[in-house]
Amino acid sequence: MTLKDAHARTVEYVRLSLTERCNLACTYCVPSHHEELPSDWMTDDEIVALIAALQPLGLRRVRLTGGEPTLRPRLPQLVARLARLGLADLSLTTNATRLSSLAVPLREAGLHRLNLSLDTLDASRFRALSGGDLDDVLAGIDAAKAAGFVGGKLNVVALDGINDGELVALARFAWAHELQPRYIELMPMSDGAVAPTHRFLPVAAIRARLEAALGTLEPCERTGPGVGPARHMRVVGTSRTIGFISAVTEPFCSTCNRIRISARGRLHTCLGIDDAPALDDVLDLRAAVGRGPDAVRAAVTSAVGKKGEGHTFDPASVGVRLAGGPRRHMIVIGG
Ligand code: 5AD
Repeated sequence: MTLKDAHARTVEYVRLSLTERCNLACTYCVPSHHEELPSDWMTDDEIVALIAALQPLGLRRVRLTGGEPTLRPRLPQLVARLARLGLADLSLTTNATRLSSLAVPLREAGLHRLNLSLDTLDASRFRALSGGDLDDVLAGIDAAKAAGFVGGKLNVVALDGINDGELVALARFAWAHELQPRYIELMPMSDGAVAPTHRFLPVAAIRARLEAALGTLEPCERTGPGVGPARHMRVVGTSRTIGFISAVTEPFCSTCNRIRISARGRLHTCLGIDDAPALDDVLDLRAAVGRGPDAVRAAVTSAVGKKGEGHTFDPASVGVRLAGGPRRHMIVIGG
């Protein structure tokens, strides 16, 4: 069975947040009230029951995210249980800070792939941007490779005046670590006055900077389990590819294949549409889990049927605190 929305898109991919907590506080992401975020997360049993209930609908790819998913206690045990469900793809997005100790247990638990986030290779800039220690991340990236995770992505949020001079170095770093560099436009999420509009760099500008140093980029198709709606380009004459998430200037909603579930079990059908008027006040799948797998499937089928056609992100609203109450947070909905 396949799950179709009203716009003829097949939904087969779930991004599941395991916690709203993060051990970094990247200025463009951290909510102003981070400490007050709820922590009534779904239990491991509820998560496994939820994903198992969705499999017959054709949901066959799961990415674990957050917050920082490696902060979740007993993560390898949860991954092992999910791996036993026989999903086509089971992956995790992390800031890599905790991979020195977790990469091997996650690999052994059956995790297929890792995506890593890193916006700068400069230790003092990293500290200023995230509050963290770059050495932890670099050690984590090495540990991931040593544990056998290769072919993942290195997510880079491009920030004008912060890491724009490092975009090429980050691409080279990613390739050297057998990762695909992937540049993300700053999206108008969160509510801190921390990611001012003038930090926004459109994908066209990112591409131009990369081409000036690396040579011409040509569009390319990527296939395989990790392929999402990112646009992919190849450095002409090489096998090196780069991904671009142009959610603001060149939205790719027509190929959207996903839903998001927050750590509390709330369903979000889109990162950018306000089906979450209050912080996380949308369809409660956790309650549906309590009523059994048929209730989960009915709830998700109905919500996907109402999934909006697409979002519009206004670059002018990046970092702007809205008067009308809480905003959508990547950290809650799941990046
Ligand atoms: N815009 C773009 N990317 C963001 N991320 C977090 N907040 C934002 C935002 N406002 C990124 C993280 C990570 C990925 C999961 O999402 O840096 O790479």
